[in-house]
Amino acid sequence: MNYIGSKWSLLSFLENSILEITDKDCHTFCDLFAGTGAVGKHFKERGFEVTANDMQYYSYVLNRHYVGNTDVPAFENLLGFLPEIVTLNVDKRAAFVCHYLTSIPPVEGFIYKNYCLGGTKGEGAERLYFTDENGKQCDAIRLKIEEWYSENLITENEYFFLLATLIENIDKLANTASVYGAYLKKIKKSAAAKLQMTPAILIPGNPNQQVFCEDANTLISKIKGDILYLDPPYNHRQYAANYHLLETIAKYDAPLLKGKTGLRNYSEQKSDYCLKSKVKESFETLIQDADFKYIFLSYNNEGLMSLEEVKEIMSQRGEYGLFTKEYSRFKADKTENRQHKANSTFEYLHYVKIKD
Ligand SMILES: C[S@@+](CC[C@H](N)C(=O)[O-])C[C@H]1O[C@@H](n2cnc3c(N)ncnc32)[C@H](O)[C@@H]1O
Repeated sequence: MNYIGSKWSLLSFLENSILEITDKDCHTFCDLFAGTGAVGKHFKERGFEVTANDMQYYSYVLNRHYVGNTDVPAFENLLGFLPEIVTLNVDKRAAFVCHYLTSIPPVEGFIYKNYCLGGTKGEGAERLYFTDENGKQCDAIRLKIEEWYSENLITENEYFFLLATLIENIDKLANTASVYGAYLKKIKKSAAAKLQMTPAILIPGNPNQQVFCEDANTLISKIKGDILYLDPPYNHRQYAANYHLLETIAKYDAPLLKGKTGLRNYSEQKSDYCLKSKVKESFETLIQDADFKYIFLSYNNEGLMSLEEVKEIMSQRGEYGLFTKEYSRFKADKTENRQHKANSTFEYLHYVKIKD
């Protein structure tokens, strides 16, 4: 998934650095600002017992599946509803159920009515986040998943597998430049494709995984473990505003919408880590309250806190160190499209070995 601050492309840098510093007795890994779950998933694959957390519900959904689910969904209770399942091996059933959902009749539901041209035309704000067809299919699938769950036709694990599958597949069809802060005026090529429920992969692993949807600073005093990995937002861009549509699809709670982009109210989901006036104090409290053997922090040289500020705060807990990875970012030069200007950004991995 294309996500602001995703660490997908930095996984080997993170793994090599973290394993270089930590001792062999570390078994638990906490991804406290988990986003897409890329980092937690990776450490789950490496055999760690992972705790994942994020304050956004769509992120909880993704992590609840990728980190929390360890068994192939068998859909035993759907047998009465989809009898064909009986003839299939367990490992084929998820694909069958996803295929079934892809082809159920469309519904003019909340997403279609509020975020597609057909549903919003003449209603004040015309929005073009998805094609009409994909908006209606998303509604139909989301409603069916909820119906099955409320009728006990699917288990909690299967529910989150299906929701994670929907979130990932609908996100690929968003008619946006990158985030949901704005939509494009015309349907772009990738958004014109038809919604398919390609099953989210299942990562087998130790069944003792935990997933939370809380503010990091609240959760931190309720958990403990070996390795704490922190990847908070680096700048003022609030995730709740930039991914509001994924939040609404995940919750499907028909919120009141505001403005041109149909933003849901996110006053309860504003992160202190995006506020210059609050970030340092929140970060310091988090570090002080952490009961872990090692703490790692991903941050970059353009973040709201300076390298020196981070160092000062983390050093209070023990032996501090830093890994750095340089990125060459190529930006199209505004005056001459063919010339590209390189500018560097540094991805930091700060760490502290906690003194007892
Ligand atoms: C840089 S992203 C994490 C990206 C993630 N490592 C990945 O690879 O996808 C930061 C995440 O922190 C979450 N977040 C921001 N403030 C938070 C808070 N106070 N408590 C919990 N999560 C928070 C955001 O919702 C966002 O998903």
